[in-house]
Amino acid sequence: MGLRRIENADVKNRRVLVRVDFNVPMMDGVVTDATRLMAAMPTISYLKSAGAKVILLAHFGRPEGQRVAEASLMPVVAPLAEMLAAPVQFAEDCIGPVAEAAAGALKPGGVLLLENTRFHAGEEKNDPEFAAALAKLGEIYVNDAFSASHREHGSTAGVAAYLPAYAGLALQRELDHLSQALKYPRRPVIAIVGGAKVSTKIDLLENLVNKVDKLFVGGAMANTFLAAQGHDVGKSLYEADCADTARAILEAARNHGCEMTLPADLVCAREFAANPDSVTVPADAIPADMMALDCGPATVDALADTIDTCRTLIWNGPLGAFETPPFNTSTVEVAKYAGKRARENNLIAVAGGGDTVAALNQAGAAGDFTFISTAGGAFLEWMEGKTLPGVEAVTD
Ligand code: 3PG
Ligand code: MG
Repeated sequence: MGLRRIENADVKNRRVLVRVDFNVPMMDGVVTDATRLMAAMPTISYLKSAGAKVILLAHFGRPEGQRVAEASLMPVVAPLAEMLAAPVQFAEDCIGPVAEAAAGALKPGGVLLLENTRFHAGEEKNDPEFAAALAKLGEIYVNDAFSASHREHGSTAGVAAYLPAYAGLALQRELDHLSQALKYPRRPVIAIVGGAKVSTKIDLLENLVNKVDKLFVGGAMANTFLAAQGHDVGKSLYEADCADTARAILEAARNHGCEMTLPADLVCAREFAANPDSVTVPADAIPADMMALDCGPATVDALADTIDTCRTLIWNGPLGAFETPPFNTSTVEVAKYAGKRARENNLIAVAGGGDTVAALNQAGAAGDFTFISTAGGAFLEWMEGKTLPGVEAVTD
């Protein structure tokens, strides 16, 4: 892959427009999780020390082309300045005279954050005029927002048509790790996919059965597979209309020599609540008046044994209703086990997708994984084998 790497650009004294993903969790105007700000530090610091004038472009929320006060990026300025231990300027618009004046006033090593790109309808429409107005602010473009790269927007893709365009350090790191897990992995590779719905992960599963050696499906989506195999899933959440799809995926796995497995046992309850009475049953014996809410201990043991035979793990989605204890048990146990294998250098363990990161954090295993993607939708689309417009924009 011909990524144009930022290290190959001559950035000294140049105005460098850097697309970052500052779509961070925020409450009452306060950033509550700074992971994505941290992720942007290497590129910003690199550019600062190389004497560039750093202009940050980002979106926040979905204001749909309207200037909405709650969607301002202003609350990001203070935590960002603190992390950088340097002042960060802010411009109340991302294009036009205000932005141009602020960009023009930057000194080498200076940092300027522009207001939410989605305050302009041209951003999401990828309107060439909007993209050209952004491009006017800089001399070089850098995309460092992997997690927004599945969007074909003005600031993630369009602007790259007007400026020399490069991949930032976080975006490179992200792609390097994902490629290591799926494009040229140490085999055998196991994929663990969980979550509620097969319907949102059809493309993902279809791509994975073609690429990985083993695939385990857990979470409520496993119920859809069990039902498609003719098992009674009782009151469990499942998608009746995905039965054909589920059978086709099982068949594709067989054809590609991908060893696909489902839970062997399940923890079931009559109601979905914290700590209700529950029973553990074989996966083909879900009681008619109960719902499956987590994988059981036999499944966890089997999965641990399978992980032992693999050198690479790629994980997306929880294995049970992990927000509601004790139905987080299998997710936590398997995450801890995979984390241990990774810590001991026996496994390359990569994970991504919104809920997945929360689940691994809950298990205290996130720090042991080889790499955890900061991306949700972009991680999924990359895993589906799709081309991401924001990556294409910085690739030869
Ligand atoms: C994200 O938070 O997943 C990215 O920033 C993309 O945001 P979006 O889903 O609103 O495009
Ligand atoms: Mg999103």
